[in-house]
Amino acid sequence: DSRNLEVEQPTTSSAESVPKQPFVIGVAGGAASGKTTVCDMIIQQLHDQRVVLVNQDSFYHNLSEEELMRVHEYNFDHPDAFDTEQLLCCMGKLRHWQAVDIPNYDFKSYKNGVVPKRRVNPSDVIILEGILAFHDPRVRELMNMKIFVDTDPDVRLARRIRRDTVEKGRDIRTVLDQYSKFVKPAFDDFILPTKKYADIIIPRGGDNHVAIDLIVQHIRTKLGQHDLCKICPNLYVIQSTFQI
Ligand code: ADP
Ligand code: C5P
Repeated sequence: DSRNLEVEQPTTSSAESVPKQPFVIGVAGGAASGKTTVCDMIIQQLHDQRVVLVNQDSFYHNLSEEELMRVHEYNFDHPDAFDTEQLLCCMGKLRHWQAVDIPNYDFKSYKNGVVPKRRVNPSDVIILEGILAFHDPRVRELMNMKIFVDTDPDVRLARRIRRDTVEKGRDIRTVLDQYSKFVKPAFDDFILPTKKYADIIIPRGGDNHVAIDLIVQHIRTKLGQHDLCKICPNLYVIQSTFQI
């Protein structure tokens, strides 16, 4: 049988030449859309895999004394608020299986460095989560899968009010001022336009169990292919031969 013969032939274009790199997932969406919740659910379902979560928040620039004195005039939703070069450096290292120390951002003092850095070891799956995770093309290029969490603005605002007053100790007036001055315009100008880069758009965030199940299934398939490639480099040849 010629088909069997073909299967037994070793090929030079085997998947061994495909470098095994971590599977990088980007998760973007408006503030309080449920990005972290979605990431946590994915990580929970992938409990048998090594997964690491990187937050874009960790790469907020430190504010100068002058900016700190007028913090209510600072736009934390603008792309320039983030140290994207440092983010790229950390993601690059993780993709090459090197451990990194990631800053821990303190929302109360608006500072990096108050809390010690977090040692992050390389993993099979790296999830990068943040409002502007898809903004820089160099960051987007690192991603094997892009997810946009799409939650109604009124739901996001309601959650934000609760979160910022309860967890960040801010007063409601400050939260509403920041929302109308910076958060909403930046969502319209910078975040929403990146939705077009998404492979998957999840309506309702963490409430959407079907979407999360499908995403986890896809990641498992991709990771399985990775591992099968290492064990059986001719797998694709076998598959394609029998499909003919
Ligand atoms: P993001 O990472 O996009 O800012 P989070 O996942 O941290 O969003 O969620 C923002 C806030 O909304 C948190 O306080 C969280 O507990 C709450 N939250 C997230 N998803 C839901 C949900 N499906 N139902 C109710 N509250 C939610
Ligand atoms: O976790 P989430 O994606 O909601 O975080 C992003 C939001 O955090 C932004 O909308 C930004 O306005 C807010 N932020 C803040 N104070 C800071 C840093 C960020 O309110 N010091």
